[in-house]
Amino acid sequence: MAVPFLLAPMAELSHRPLRELIEGFGGCDEYFTEMISSGALISGGRFEAFYLDTAPCPERVVFQLLGSDAAQLAGAAEFLDRLPCAGIDLNMGCSAPAITRTGAGVRWMADIDRAGELIRLVRSRTRRRLSVKLRIGPGDNFDYLLEFCRRLAGEGVDRITLHPRTAREKFRRRARWEYVARLREGLPIPVAGNGDIAGAAELAARSGSGTCDAVMAGRAAVRMPWIFAEARSIERRAETGPEGADPLMAGGGREPGFAPGKVNLEETGLRFLELLARHQPPEFHLSRARRFFGYFCDNLKWAHYLKTALNRERTLAGVERVWRAYFRENPE
Ligand SMILES: Cc1cc2nc3c(=O)[nH]c(=O)nc-3n(C[C@H](O)[C@H](O)[C@H](O)COP(=O)(O)O)c2cc1C
Repeated sequence: MAVPFLLAPMAELSHRPLRELIEGFGGCDEYFTEMISSGALISGGRFEAFYLDTAPCPERVVFQLLGSDAAQLAGAAEFLDRLPCAGIDLNMGCSAPAITRTGAGVRWMADIDRAGELIRLVRSRTRRRLSVKLRIGPGDNFDYLLEFCRRLAGEGVDRITLHPRTAREKFRRRARWEYVARLREGLPIPVAGNGDIAGAAELAARSGSGTCDAVMAGRAAVRMPWIFAEARSIERRAETGPEGADPLMAGGGREPGFAPGKVNLEETGLRFLELLARHQPPEFHLSRARRFFGYFCDNLKWAHYLKTALNRERTLAGVERVWRAYFRENPE
């Protein structure tokens, strides 16, 4: 049976422009925000309005909070509780040294009692669906992971997302999806799986595997904002068979409702730039454009050359000029 698709929380990527882009291709079931600093949120940081912008589909957005201080995280959760959203997520998976040094991210996984107390406190301040995104843990120890997650569930967490790598692995080795299935078997709450989804076929296969309650994709969804729509098309074709009618199909033909070959990459890039200019503050424009094109260019020939040329630009208008020039010079 097909399960919900989730867009992963990704710093500088999981914002309104990307959601708008994905929605334009048919959407995704839930969109995590990029991690939001609980401290900055509570003290009213300058850019918080942008992190809290849940358009165009607030009811399908999950806020992700980052922090090392339980009282601050609970205060931030209480604040978010009043906003329309699908839920609140706590980041216990980020392994960037700048984050773990402060005791945040995957550092929560080093101490079951500390994490349990955090959940109890946060749970007392919000009735929203509360989830945690995490890794295998400090080491490759499934029993520890299971014990950790059972404690979280016991304190009131409603869903876990597992990115099955250890804290130290960053993106090394492959994601161990077998841990997702085992964790799901051992927990009384739903488990979403995340990691290394490379394309729509793999997304659909994970969804239909019966081994997780939701599938989350990150980097591949930046490279292919249509990935969720394409995966649903694959699922529908599998259900109806090659001869079956696809409800989304124009004119009742045999083609699936979504054909990735028809995506206009130049237009998609331009649309992203337009959304970025409209919905993000100027201070964010270049960093967000670089992040996005760092993945999106992988659809193209000479990706490395193009990324370097785009990264050299100092304005969004310059990025647009380089992007358009690439397609003029490479019409194929
Ligand atoms: C640029 C970037 C930023 C990320 N930021 C976050 C974040 O803010 N919070 C989080 O929990 N994980 C973050 N992650 C991890 C992703 O959510 C996800 O777990 C990871 O990329 C593996 O999924 P994927 O292989 O589908 O990309 C980030 C990953 C990337 C590449």
